[in-house]
Amino acid sequence: MWLQPHSCHWSLVTGHKKYKRNMKVLVATEKPFAKVAVDGIREVVEKNGHTLALLEKYTDVNDFYKAVEDADALIVRSDKVTKEVIDHAKNLKIVVRAGAGYDNLDLEACTARGIVAMNTPGQNSNAVAELVMGMLVYCVRNFYNGKSGSELMGKKLGILAFGNVGRNVARIAKGFGMDVYAFDAFLTADQINASGLATAVANQEALFETCDVVSLHIPATAETKQSINYALVNKMHKGGILVNSARKEVINEPELLKLMAERTDLKYITDIMPDADAEFKAFEGRYFATPKKMGAQTEEANINAGIAAANQISDFFATGCTKFQVNK
Ligand code: 3PG
Repeated sequence: MWLQPHSCHWSLVTGHKKYKRNMKVLVATEKPFAKVAVDGIREVVEKNGHTLALLEKYTDVNDFYKAVEDADALIVRSDKVTKEVIDHAKNLKIVVRAGAGYDNLDLEACTARGIVAMNTPGQNSNAVAELVMGMLVYCVRNFYNGKSGSELMGKKLGILAFGNVGRNVARIAKGFGMDVYAFDAFLTADQINASGLATAVANQEALFETCDVVSLHIPATAETKQSINYALVNKMHKGGILVNSARKEVINEPELLKLMAERTDLKYITDIMPDADAEFKAFEGRYFATPKKMGAQTEEANINAGIAAANQISDFFATGCTKFQVNK
């Protein structure tokens, strides 16, 4: 429902030099795509006259440096595309983060070399949203320990950042009968209310004050890093649950640890293992982290995001289309 249309508007076709065929497209994924997604990426790449190279499950960054040396295009997931990677990638013209958050790309280094950086917004958001609701059910049912838990129906869910994932969470949560509220620093209340999925609140403080559960969907930026802190989470009323499927960097971990030690009613569930995982584990029955970020790890999301990335690269080489470019 929120997927961006793929076709390229003429105004996004810039004066880039056209590279028609025989480009080498490297997929470098420490956490690999499902095989069916890789097969789909290969089909798109080869149909467009290019060749595919694969580097999966690498554990040594030197393998990434070597693989990228002769690549014209690069598809990654959360893999860090640092200045060092860019320096090794002598032929690189385009890098696509198959996913939403592009905080793993060194945009400055890309721009300095004239490399186009893109993401694939919306393509994996349903997968992340389904995981959020799954983790939430797991949490309110006491991590399936056999003891009596609670239900989501009638509870207030706050969505912090109402983008593709936030909207999908709202859609599913409404099916559970939850009352959904949202705040987004880049949307007006009217825009949020017009979605029909959530009621807008005035600011993020109000979201934490109002809701039983707050689900984070903010990107990791200079403004948001460490922004989920003691003062904010402490606004939640008794029994509050914080859900993180965004980035670990947005959490002020020392402050959240301090708060959870003081407030034994609060729970934290996350799809991104905190640096202080061992300390959080001390809050038995109030903390859960997936062993590896699982939100976008479905065949469907891998297919959607991987094939979108392959199409965006093929369009870029064929026409110079820069739709979804993030380093403008
Ligand atoms: C994203 O930003 O798209 C998600 O965090 C998914 O990341 P992943 O591709 O590493 O699973």
